Amino acid sequence: MNAIHWVAIALSLATLCYGDLKNGRNDKTFYDCTGLDDGLYIGDCTHFYRCANETTRMLPCPGNLVVNEKQMWCDYKALVKPPCGTAPNCSGIINGNYPDYSSRCQQYYTCQHEEFYGFTKCAANLIFNLEKNNCDWPFLVKPPCGSGNERVWPSKPDNYGSQH
Ligand SMILES: *[C@@H]1O[C@H](CO)[C@@H](O)[C@H](O)[C@H]1NC(C)=O
Ligand SMILES: *[C@@H]1O[C@H](CO)[C@@H](O)[C@H](O)[C@H]1NC(C)=O
Repeated sequence: MNAIHWVAIALSLATLCYGDLKNGRNDKTFYDCTGLDDGLYIGDCTHFYRCANETTRMLPCPGNLVVNEKQMWCDYKALVKPPCGTAPNCSGIINGNYPDYSSRCQQYYTCQHEEFYGFTKCAANLIFNLEKNNCDWPFLVKPPCGSGNERVWPSKPDNYGSQH
């Protein structure tokens, strides 16, 4: 879990407490707690609601944060899978690390058991090299992430000797 994630957790805890005070009304127009056990429920992409003794309290996520169904907290869109967020869709993807093109490969993301397991940032000046499965110098990484080209990796074995 990285620093950004801790910020998201802190914000969601803050909003759950704040939401209780600010929106502590019985808001049955949106979600009906009748017959539901006490607890936290998902409303839509931007709201939780809490049922206590069959009364409803709306708990909106602050700012641009959205509902993370898996963790049951408010989170950055980039870390929540569609449709609420924009995290990579790991369904049908084999376990592994993949370049995050939106960061120009300065970070990669991990898929495990078809679930998105978060982003990892490469050290400064390095980008993710899919072939080597690690962070690497841009000139050693093939496009579209890097600028690596055939002078670094001859594509045809018979060209190789002639370059020396
Ligand atoms: C729940 O609501 C009922 C009916 O309004 C009330 O009698 C009861 O005391 C409430 N229970 C709690 C734990 O607030
Ligand atoms: C995620 O990918 C799977 C497999 O390709 C697809 O069936 C599913 O509709 C995708 N989900 C979203 C929300 O894009």
